[in-house]
Amino acid sequence: MSVVALSRLSQTNLLDWYDEHKRDLPWRNTNDPWAILLSEILLQQTQVSRGIVYWQRMIETFPTIESMANSHVDKVLKAWEGAGYYSRARRLHALSQLVMLPSSEGGFDGSLPSSHESLLSLPGIGPYTSAAVASIAFGQPFACVDGNIKRVMARQQRVSEPSTKDLQSWADEHLVRQRPGDWNQALMELGATVCTPQKPQCHRCPIQSSCEGKDTPTAYPIPKKTTVKKATLWTCVEFDRQGNPIISQRKPDGLFGGLWGPQLHEGEVPDMKSEQMFVGTVEHKLSHRSLTVHVYMSTRLSSQVGRHPSGVAMSVLDQKIIEIVRKSGHEQTSFGKKDDMAHR
Ligand code: ADE
Repeated sequence: MSVVALSRLSQTNLLDWYDEHKRDLPWRNTNDPWAILLSEILLQQTQVSRGIVYWQRMIETFPTIESMANSHVDKVLKAWEGAGYYSRARRLHALSQLVMLPSSEGGFDGSLPSSHESLLSLPGIGPYTSAAVASIAFGQPFACVDGNIKRVMARQQRVSEPSTKDLQSWADEHLVRQRPGDWNQALMELGATVCTPQKPQCHRCPIQSSCEGKDTPTAYPIPKKTTVKKATLWTCVEFDRQGNPIISQRKPDGLFGGLWGPQLHEGEVPDMKSEQMFVGTVEHKLSHRSLTVHVYMSTRLSSQVGRHPSGVAMSVLDQKIIEIVRKSGHEQTSFGKKDDMAHR
């Protein structure tokens, strides 16, 4: 594969623009590698606006890597609740425990390693996160490539489907080695705020003069086709005498691994008994799946012991299911609305 040619892109223009226009994001006001790592893991699949809320919650709950390592993974999942892609939270917990191990046992004596290679060896850390943390937290000269940077590159170079190799070559060649963290973030910032997927604001772009694609920016890059699988599920929520729903913890692997919820069943809804009443249908979209859940509740009290939803980590889908049952107004669903909201 050819290596893309170095364009006339003005690094000074972009860095000056970044210095003036960068958003005041909380992880940009710290040098703490742990705080920066948390932000990069959250931002892998979460928009910045939502990421801020979760980052604040995570850093307050786990101010140090040690505090996470000493916590049960369930506490990490609870703090991550609502952010989605829960395997990230489980891997982050595994990472914290590995880092806390002495080096004689394969750990890092309690300090996040600074080298790209060591970071890459940690659970949940891929090439993007490793380069982002190495450059932003430790000033190491590594270029990272995310979706925003891909879009900037594709437009600058006028390529419809840049390969991973060409993207990395372009990023490596343009990296400003004196300010690698700022440079990586400047490219991301440009992609997130100016060189946006729809309606890019080319007139505001500090590197428009080198942009080959500025006449038809939205043609680059061609969006990746994502196939969204549809699934229909059903559940019948039961309650105990205290009005708490019967929920259980899901297995670590699989959908919503480690989180709590009512049992979800695939396939056709069976004939329901007279005490099982239909309360509504919940739609829930994940990145590659679109779920429709038909929700029933049992009017007969369970002999099992339920749990108050605020005490365990639940996915947004499970929260919606419990909410629709609660809203159905049945007297058995007596757990308090106020409490529930406060723990979201
Ligand atoms: N997306 C991922 N990392 C980011 C960062 N540090 N700043 C802005 N957007 C990002």
